[in-house]
Amino acid sequence: MRRKIVAGNWKMNTTPAEGVELLKGVAALKSTAPSDVELIVGVPFTHLCGVKDAAAAAGIAVSAQNCADHESGAYTGEVSAKMIASLGAKYVILGHSERREYYGETSETLNKKMALAYANGLAPIYCVGEKLDEREAGKHFDVVRAQIEEVVFQLTPEQFGSLVIAYEPVWAIGTGKTATAEQAQEIHAFIRGVLAEKFGAAAADKTPILYGGSCKPSNAAEIFSKADVDGGLIGGASLVADDFIAIAKAF
Ligand code: 13P
Repeated sequence: MRRKIVAGNWKMNTTPAEGVELLKGVAALKSTAPSDVELIVGVPFTHLCGVKDAAAAAGIAVSAQNCADHESGAYTGEVSAKMIASLGAKYVILGHSERREYYGETSETLNKKMALAYANGLAPIYCVGEKLDEREAGKHFDVVRAQIEEVVFQLTPEQFGSLVIAYEPVWAIGTGKTATAEQAQEIHAFIRGVLAEKFGAAAADKTPILYGGSCKPSNAAEIFSKADVDGGLIGGASLVADDFIAIAKAF
């Protein structure tokens, strides 16, 4: 049995105080969700310290949404993997399409970030996914394969063992347009096959692959019912505690 995960990506939303309230709301409802679903909240850097204790008490894991591509030093405005880990976070989201698109993240940068995440005991949630024109041109398999080969294939088998992958078609993020459950299953199975080429079928079979992109209480059950979909990376709906928990209940 693979791990089931519902992870929230709060993106650049909420003040730290509002974030603590949101976390408390999720914590209060957590017992109503299936106990075998791991809940993760992906919070802004400024919130890591504030949510730490309440998240730990509730058994909710905390993730950052990015980390620096250098260990430490004169990199004004950056936040290192070590700083993030020291505040109790267990995960870091890397390669989100918004970071690739607006902050010019390339596979080269991401390889450095992945290495630093692992070196500091953080498990990456590595995001892949194609843009609308790439899907319309039938290139989505090639795009996703390249995002995996250029970054995930650089990991050691041991590192790969704690990796979480999120497939997020860019055309479905924040648009209200969700991939159909069949589209999600098709590409999740493809991703697992690509992972198996490098790390073997047994290891690939253990890797959680999450779906992200306009996932909400009304569509999560259908998407999560698919064999290779192991949960979700949730943007907008993770900002409402009831909706986030309703998605976890969709398993
Ligand atoms: P939405 O759920 O708001 O579409 O965002 C998805 C996402 O980008 C999660 O990382």
